[in-house]
Amino acid sequence: MAVKINENYLLLESNYIFSEINQRVDKYQEDNPDADIILMGIGDVTRPLPEAVIEKFSAAVDEMGKKETFRGYGPEQGYDFLMEQIIKHDYTPRGITLSKDELFISDGAKCDTGNIQEIFGLGNTVAVTDPVYPVYVDSNVMAGRTGPMGENGRYQKLVYIPCTEDNDFVPELPDTPVDLIYLCFPNNPTGTALTKAQLKEWVDYARENNSIILFDAAYEAYITEDNIPHSIYEIEGAREVAIEFRSFSKNAGFTGTRCAYTVVPKEVMGFDSEGNPHSLNALWNRRQTTKFNGVSYPIQVAASAVYSPEGQKEIKESIDYYMKNASIIRENLSSIGLRVYGGINSPYIWIKTPGDMDSWQFFDLLLNEAHVVGTPGIGFGPSGEGYLRLTAFNTLENTEEAMDRISKLSI
Ligand code: MLT
Repeated sequence: MAVKINENYLLLESNYIFSEINQRVDKYQEDNPDADIILMGIGDVTRPLPEAVIEKFSAAVDEMGKKETFRGYGPEQGYDFLMEQIIKHDYTPRGITLSKDELFISDGAKCDTGNIQEIFGLGNTVAVTDPVYPVYVDSNVMAGRTGPMGENGRYQKLVYIPCTEDNDFVPELPDTPVDLIYLCFPNNPTGTALTKAQLKEWVDYARENNSIILFDAAYEAYITEDNIPHSIYEIEGAREVAIEFRSFSKNAGFTGTRCAYTVVPKEVMGFDSEGNPHSLNALWNRRQTTKFNGVSYPIQVAASAVYSPEGQKEIKESIDYYMKNASIIRENLSSIGLRVYGGINSPYIWIKTPGDMDSWQFFDLLLNEAHVVGTPGIGFGPSGEGYLRLTAFNTLENTEEAMDRISKLSI
């Protein structure tokens, strides 16, 4: 007998979208060694960690080198000193009450949004907005919740909620009942946001239908407009039906350093086959204590420095810097007649491809003619076809240069 694989993996697209792009860009660079390629594909930040963070980070590393201050395993859920800062700065000012045992510090919102599905039964119906951050879909494919992909590019058992120009990228409530709903707002990839009233419709739906919302708020720091909620718990009743994911990656430059957190309120319940309620907080805690040993002490110290007055000032400067790039991208592309969305409450700009071009054709045009890399919308789901995403996370100089090159193309 030979070892059997998890055949659900065979249902996946061969490559994760960002790996596919990397391969294509590497090949292009190999064939064109002189091309000065500007990367605006994956949403990776370019500004260094704030000084306030680095200072505390290195002091914590020093502590680990002295026998008096050395620390071994920390609490799997995270250190109190970081949780206290999170509650004090991210939730209390918005009128949200959370306790420390509702918080789970982790090494990334990508990991948590991918892993959270483990605590849910395989029979649940999963809904995703379309286009969508591919991790939500792929992690459910791996688990066996989606069935195979149909000819229309959709996994047969997933419920897709199209977000396109036709509905201003605002997801409409599903017309068939769904159990798990992934929402990411401000949205990756479309860059659009939901108002409180729009998000409330989803919370109400989840309460009426016993659904759970998995709310990815990784980009909340980019919100500039007043009526956009930063946390789903700003909506009444959300504590009963929502799990929220947050990250230090995009607001404070931790994409390489890795620190994030997930909120699982005590009220959120799932049910066993006999209809008995079970606390999802307890299940996630059980999962994390078994499979995760916590984020390293120096990194949690570094993350807590984000909340110092100096840290807050520095991260605001970075966010403003990226948002200036976003407005440069919006203005330049609009001025050459492209239809652009996002970039107001988000670092992503979602562009309608010109003419009849599909996403990969526009990707190839930008790469070949302008040496600029975007992410083809189709990589985020079937409704992403005909769009391309650019990030505002490159440097100002590169963003301006990229816009200059794109403006000279005949499109
Ligand atoms: C993206 O480009 O969509 C994000 O960078 C991916 C991520 O945060 O994992």
